[in-house]
Amino acid sequence: MHYGIEKFLHAFTSLADLGQEIADTRDRKEMVESALQVVLGTLAIRRGAVVEYVEEKGSVQFIAARGIGSDLPPEIPFTDTDVKDSCEIGAGGLSVSEPHSSNAAVRLAKRHPLLFENLGYDLFMPLIMRDKLLGILLLGPKMSEEPFSALDRDVICSMGRHIGVGIYNHRLIAEVEVRAEENQRLYDDLRATYQDTVRAFAAAIDFKDKYTRGHSERVGRYCEIIAREMGWNDEQVEGMIVAGYLHDIGKIVVDRDIINSPYKIDAKLLPELNRHTIAGYEILSLIKHPFADIPLMARHHHERVDGGGYPDGLTGDQIPMGAKILTVADSFDAMTTDRPYKRRRTMEEIIKDLGENAGKQFEPEVVVAFARALLKEITGEAQGKEILNTLSDDYVDIENIKPLLIELIRSIESNSYSAAANVT
Ligand SMILES: [Fe+2]
Ligand SMILES: [Fe+2]
Repeated sequence: MHYGIEKFLHAFTSLADLGQEIADTRDRKEMVESALQVVLGTLAIRRGAVVEYVEEKGSVQFIAARGIGSDLPPEIPFTDTDVKDSCEIGAGGLSVSEPHSSNAAVRLAKRHPLLFENLGYDLFMPLIMRDKLLGILLLGPKMSEEPFSALDRDVICSMGRHIGVGIYNHRLIAEVEVRAEENQRLYDDLRATYQDTVRAFAAAIDFKDKYTRGHSERVGRYCEIIAREMGWNDEQVEGMIVAGYLHDIGKIVVDRDIINSPYKIDAKLLPELNRHTIAGYEILSLIKHPFADIPLMARHHHERVDGGGYPDGLTGDQIPMGAKILTVADSFDAMTTDRPYKRRRTMEEIIKDLGENAGKQFEPEVVVAFARALLKEITGEAQGKEILNTLSDDYVDIENIKPLLIELIRSIESNSYSAAANVT
């Protein structure tokens, strides 16, 4: 039958619509339903369905159906022979009512009276991709009752291919999503194992130093709080927690008597204690960390921004920001815990010390971040009270330190402002 130019254009436009529909729709069922609608509308057919072949179940299942009521079986058994016959029919499809239908089509029609006699489908179009049966496009007769022309077949064939590609792509996406989920789970497991190992290491480090139990864990917590306050992202914050836990790992190689000395270490023994920075760097460099710079942070956590620290006497920007965060967190914990040779200092003294040493021992930006985080806990602006809960209740006089923190932040910020103004 001759296809008028208008009809041809209509079919062509429908095909374009179908491609768009398949590309746009994320939901598989919705995509197939829309595609079927386009096919039926283009060829003026009342009845149609798309079934999917599910190899693991040996059955076909309706994804979309129109014009045959809703009383459809959930699945229809589809044997290997059925699949073989479907593939033999090929993507060209066959009308079971045509006298020249192939043996495969006749056999299939006989084995599946439900599809052809009961539900009244006439055209059977296997959806095949890469020699695999994905499903079948089933169509009833045209409303005009004219037989399907060769051009009709071509149009249906193209549309069937589009639908097949759509189903295939959605399957691939689903498979990729399952793989991605599996990968994510494996990654989460690995991450948890890494974190547990880090925690175990921290406990081992602190165990050696009987006066500072829990030091590494507390430093990890302070590092997290400061990094968050500085606007670091989750991964960077996680790296800072790990750095806090592991910063003193080099103490493992330092003589236990020196670490546990009840007296302030004298100048002669100081190099032995101080070598924990380089030892830590060397130990941590042997491990591949998911976060950058952890060995460097451990190496430089006793540097000072004025260059008077160790082991390398770095200054200012030469010191990684993570190490500068560690320095403040480490010093804050040292100042807030009792040592055998030194009682802990009052919060008022500590805030004064942080202010006096900003720009000398400490990076001013980090001191401000820490002061801000503590102030937010005091004013209730922060969600938790991580710092306050780490310190004992009777230690912090909130009313007293609140104005001191405000003043500390103001003075550092105004200093850096005037310093910046002087440069320009
Ligand atoms: Fe240290
Ligand atoms: Fe430390």
